[in-house]
Amino acid sequence: MPGENVKVAVRVRPFNQREIDANSKCVIQMDGGSTTITNPHTGEKKTFTFDHSYWSHDGYNERSDSMLVPENETSVYADQQCVFNQLGRQVLDNAWEGYNSTLFAYGQTGSGKSYSMLGYGTNKGIVPIACGELFKAIDSADKSNGKQMQVTFSMLEIYNEHVRDLLTNNTKAIPGGLKVRQDRNQSFYVPDLKQLPCRDYKAIERLMEQGTINRTTASTNMNATSSRSHMVITIKFKQVFNNDRGESTTKTSEINLVDLAGSERAKSTGATGDRLREGSAINVSLLTLSSVIEALAEGNPKKTIPYRSSVLTKLLKSALGGNSKTVMIAALSPADINYEETLSTLRYADRAKKIQNKAVINLSPTEKLIHDLKSENARLLQLLASHASGGSSGMTHDKDFITADLEHLIAQNEKQMKESTMSWEQKLEDAKRGWELEHVSASDKMFSKNPYFQNVNEDPQLSGVIKKFIYEGVTMVGKCNNIDTTKKPHIALRGLGIQDHHANIMCNKSNVYADPISPNEVFVNGVKISKKTALKHGDRIKMGSNSLFLFVGFPNERKKSDDELTKKYDYNFFQNELAASLGINYDLKSKQKDASGDLGIAEVYHDYLTLMPMVAEVNAISEELQKNVSFSLFVLNLASYDSSGLEKEKEVAVKVVQQITNQVWIWSKAKFTNRKYLIEELYNNFTENPESVNDIAHEDDPFWDPVEDVYLGCAHAWLHSLAYCMPLDDQIAILNHSGKEEGHLQVSVSPCTANGIVQSDEMMILDPNDLLNKRFDIMIQIQQCIGLKWIKQNSTRGIMIKFKLYDERYGHQTRALWHVVNPRVNFQQHITVDNVDDDFLTYLHSNAVVFEVWGLQGGRVDTPDTTLDDGMIRTNTPPHSSPPSTAASFSSAEFDAMEKELEGAKHEIKSLSDQKEELFQLCRILRKENTNLKTKVKEAKKNNKNGITRPSRPKSASKSEIISKEVQNEKDKTPSSRSSSAASQGNNNVQAELGRALKRYFGDIKPIQSQMQYLLSSEMPPEPARSKHGSVKGDSYDRLRSFADVRQKDIDQLSEGFNKALLTLKSSVAATVRARKTEMQPNGSS
Ligand SMILES: Nc1ncnc2c1ncn2[C@@H]1O[C@H](COP(=O)(O)OP(=O)(O)O)[C@@H](O)[C@H]1O
Ligand SMILES: [Mg+2]
Repeated sequence: MPGENVKVAVRVRPFNQREIDANSKCVIQMDGGSTTITNPHTGEKKTFTFDHSYWSHDGYNERSDSMLVPENETSVYADQQCVFNQLGRQVLDNAWEGYNSTLFAYGQTGSGKSYSMLGYGTNKGIVPIACGELFKAIDSADKSNGKQMQVTFSMLEIYNEHVRDLLTNNTKAIPGGLKVRQDRNQSFYVPDLKQLPCRDYKAIERLMEQGTINRTTASTNMNATSSRSHMVITIKFKQVFNNDRGESTTKTSEINLVDLAGSERAKSTGATGDRLREGSAINVSLLTLSSVIEALAEGNPKKTIPYRSSVLTKLLKSALGGNSKTVMIAALSPADINYEETLSTLRYADRAKKIQNKAVINLSPTEKLIHDLKSENARLLQLLASHASGGSSGMTHDKDFITADLEHLIAQNEKQMKESTMSWEQKLEDAKRGWELEHVSASDKMFSKNPYFQNVNEDPQLSGVIKKFIYEGVTMVGKCNNIDTTKKPHIALRGLGIQDHHANIMCNKSNVYADPISPNEVFVNGVKISKKTALKHGDRIKMGSNSLFLFVGFPNERKKSDDELTKKYDYNFFQNELAASLGINYDLKSKQKDASGDLGIAEVYHDYLTLMPMVAEVNAISEELQKNVSFSLFVLNLASYDSSGLEKEKEVAVKVVQQITNQVWIWSKAKFTNRKYLIEELYNNFTENPESVNDIAHEDDPFWDPVEDVYLGCAHAWLHSLAYCMPLDDQIAILNHSGKEEGHLQVSVSPCTANGIVQSDEMMILDPNDLLNKRFDIMIQIQQCIGLKWIKQNSTRGIMIKFKLYDERYGHQTRALWHVVNPRVNFQQHITVDNVDDDFLTYLHSNAVVFEVWGLQGGRVDTPDTTLDDGMIRTNTPPHSSPPSTAASFSSAEFDAMEKELEGAKHEIKSLSDQKEELFQLCRILRKENTNLKTKVKEAKKNNKNGITRPSRPKSASKSEIISKEVQNEKDKTPSSRSSSAASQGNNNVQAELGRALKRYFGDIKPIQSQMQYLLSSEMPPEPARSKHGSVKGDSYDRLRSFADVRQKDIDQLSEGFNKALLTLKSSVAATVRARKTEMQPNGSS
């Protein structure tokens, strides 16, 4: 019998709000059955062909009942009905014919798997439409020959390789989950799974609703567990009828509908750079599914297919390469930011279409089924007997295990035999009674009378499914299963961070108030409340670390429909609002992508919002497990590392603090995410068995890491003046990632002689070009650290300073300095530049030496043999790192979140910079003129014996233009007080004057430069005072505005300072020139 390939369909969804805000581009195109994806960076295209390519990205209208339909006849938009007609109907037809069928949805979280499978609101997905159609067909089927049609429904979830029955609302999940067993046909099944007989579509709808509620309740402990779990709905359809010979015949079909975990979890987590690899079982099923599909697609009959390696693949065994007609629907995100993931989904789908199945009609005489069961049982009983008599060898433990297994199978078979003799009507009645005992659903009366809280989940499919009604009087909110039985909460929550008695909700005839029990966390619209607070319809409530609710007020307040509210106030809205109240705010719309297509700051904001709830969760777990480790998010400002100060990259990182030892670690996003899954797993184990986490070894503990050095911040010493051979000797601020001072550093960077003798500023030159093509020696000295907060906080700590000059690969570092707040460092490093070139000069003009200050902590293992540089910079070899930017540091500095507002200021600074360059140019001309004058004076001396009597000063051998000490003696004289003198002295005076002016100028701009550095690395400050019910959009804009205003003022001040410094320089130069001119006039000299 020839096989049949797995049918594969792909479907691309519309942009979501986040993608619209980020100005996303669509990378998917479809043309008939082919789908093309374009690499947003390179423009490269890849085309795939599938059985169906569904375009659901645009070309649709939203009807008044929220249904999405094609906007006109020519629109290619594929709506839910279209997808059902082509995929779902096929599945139903198969079922009638007696074939098993499987439909599974693959794709990354948020790509639209659940939308296609289950749907949202009126946009029903394949599963509900198929169920509805199935019952319609049953109702209208010809039942004249006693034909009976039976439908049973089951719903399970696989999370962490555990199977959970979603149709039992046992709050305590069975440890280890339900068992998966193999039946006599070698296929796998879950014997203890509830299979509920259904009379009509309504019954199925009710079951699905309850299944979703149970799934949601199970996931409230941890966010987004749904994106890591697989859901399998199985509909068994049985037709019993008399065949032509009048024998009772049974035709069965199993429809499996599978909503898989987010495909992003299928990747290995090796790239996190973490000591601990995710050994977690969360990925096992998805990874195994990949291997199974890969092996099947290869089509090598000799190769064993690893079905047995995971729960999911066991259950999908017949769907993949077995007795099933199978359809895969691959959900695609259209957005450029998801390009990689979408491409990998397309490749996956491409492989899946090669899989061959062999579906057969499951038809057999009814009698035979019972006969088979009977003979199977007889065989099992015999096996059991031989085990009991010790007939088989092996360990007693194994034997017990096998015995228990066999007994279970026998019991199951007996149950099946008994059921097969029970009438269908009887089964339906039983199921109905059992259901009513377990579930009491909320009546419509309650919805139309009472206010309520409605849950909000990261997975939109699980939002709005749990409703907690509020009655008149006091409603107690507290932890589910709390120990104090006298305080059983009316609203019992199982989320992290919920206390036994967390808060009260007070309700009178017209108002509802939330009243937290101090110090428990209750947030209303993003702001933590500390006293009784009135609630309005549509308010957002957060309790503990992740229990999110939407407050639905009294019926007369409900202007917006439930649906509208749920849509507007989704999980992202909550996170935006919470972040805004922490001062983290970003208007994505105002940001355009840069040329490379990177989202830059928008991505940082996105990461921040993603990590924020994860950090809250991990903190709550840490508290519950008494780990004494706290986690906090911060934005790493890469500008602070960069020697040109131009780096605008930011990155989100997590600071981890051991609260007892005060040890600190900084975790990258990847490492934190990895650890979060491990921590969750640990917590899962803890909830199943609290002892299990007691004696976990350090090496296996996701909360633990060996001691590390922590980056505290850095101090920038700008090298500008070094280009004029002017030493820099200063106390500079050590700024941390967010631009706050961590302490100060007393450093000097000076020119020195070849044998390391520091030159004073008397060796200053007027033209940096004089340094060209010569050896240049620099001495870097770190004298002292002052006011180190790191050590003030805890005196067991220490610090170490590292720095690099130009293109040095390893740089230099001080020794470790322990326990002292103001440690004397007394470090010096002589650096020689073999041959100053243009690049190096540019580097001096626009860069700084960045002194990185690293925090050391107790328990640190000293590793003295770090490779360091030798202090020789060879400019004729190509630099190791990318060459420093040639742009003037001020003009291209970028200010996040308000570029536009600051554009003007930047221009101003640029023109000031240009003016400065012009001035230096002027100096150069003056100097030339001076040299000319000198020559002239010499000639005049020769020709005129009445000339200068004073001997000329000896010339410095190497640097002709160095201002000599002699000249410096004239320093205190002002141009006006200076009497006219001989021309050469005049020349020297001019040089001295210009030197002094330049020196003053450098002194003046020093504070401006450090202020500039501060502005570049500082964060948008949090805003403490904020109106409680203020709208987020408005707030976000206002905050941005005021932040921009403050920055604008800062910039104005800076440019004013800069202007002043320049003016002083200009007027000094002008005065010098004027004085010189007067001196040169024949009648001007006396
Ligand atoms: N074809 C579509 N048309 C309109 N909205 C869609 C479509 N597919 C997905 N969505 C929306 O995208 C969001 C994520 O979809 P969902 O199906 O929950 O993703 P997944 O189950 O893959 O995580 C939901 O808000 C959903 O309404
Ligand atoms: Mg989903």
